[in-house]
Amino acid sequence: MARIKCIGILTSGGDAPAMNAAIRAVTRTAIYSGFTVKGIMRGYRGLITGEIIDMKTQTVSNIIQQGGTILKTARSTEFKTPEGRAIAYENMKKAGIDALIVIGGDGSLSGARIFAEEYDIPIVGLPGTIDNDLYGTDTTIGYDTALNTIMECVDKLRDTASSHERLFFVEVMGRNAGFLALNGAIATGSEAAIIPEIATEVDQLGELIANGFRKSKNSSIVLVAESPLTGGAMAMAERVKKEFPQFDSRVTILGHIQRGGSPTATDRILASRMGAAAIKALMEGQRNVMIGIRDREMVYVPFAKATSRTKHIDRENGELVKILSM
Ligand code: F6P
Repeated sequence: MARIKCIGILTSGGDAPAMNAAIRAVTRTAIYSGFTVKGIMRGYRGLITGEIIDMKTQTVSNIIQQGGTILKTARSTEFKTPEGRAIAYENMKKAGIDALIVIGGDGSLSGARIFAEEYDIPIVGLPGTIDNDLYGTDTTIGYDTALNTIMECVDKLRDTASSHERLFFVEVMGRNAGFLALNGAIATGSEAAIIPEIATEVDQLGELIANGFRKSKNSSIVLVAESPLTGGAMAMAERVKKEFPQFDSRVTILGHIQRGGSPTATDRILASRMGAAAIKALMEGQRNVMIGIRDREMVYVPFAKATSRTKHIDRENGELVKILSM
């Protein structure tokens, strides 16, 4: 295996808080370990357009506290084609990059796996997504911050919901996974979480809410995970309204607000540890693995596993939401 001298780093897909902390950790650990570092702008698109910059220790100064990503991000359709990847490989070689660190979610790491297999490039991935839906890691970079954002927003909604004695349906992100909705519901004392992994009967949900109001609860909050399987908050509110017209209900979609903001300490520490672990992995000769965290330990998860297996939610937490909202 040829010796690695220069490491390229990119962020891809949806941004997530603490991606900057990860970029900082990768850059500084790599420089400390004797590598040069290049930043690729706008994810895989930057490899195709050749937008590549030098990364120095100062390039990543003062970014640990910033949301978003200084390298920008994109979802590249061209990189999904063999022709696009051929151009990307050419540009990578031209820039002298021998190995890549890819920070992103499921789609980005799937792209990394194909690229690594086609061109025999050492690539290490970091799980960067608010959705927490990657197999092989207990948590992903950005998830904790998004969860805290949901908590702050729902706490505020609770104030107005209680004042008006209303029912709120709050839609949260998560693509096809219910981690944000389920754990958001536990953290906010929501009355229910509607998630793609567990089917919800509208009449049971309506009864649960009606019961709460009967027992003198003065508000009700239902977190709904965005997904074709749940239909989202708007559709769920409509369905409940049809059968339970007595509720004064409102819908709030939190949307991209969940992706922004200064990362929590937990996310900053996770991203810093994972960034350093990615460089260690390359130095140990690891390739085509995602860095994960399991029981507080850094682990290597082959791309094939991380991107093809489903990470299951803890179904007991679904029960917990019900019990605690009595
Ligand atoms: O994967 C992160 C995520 O925020 C999902 O939760 C959401 O479904 C999607 O990205 C939104 O993507 P976009 O920013 O392209 O609208």
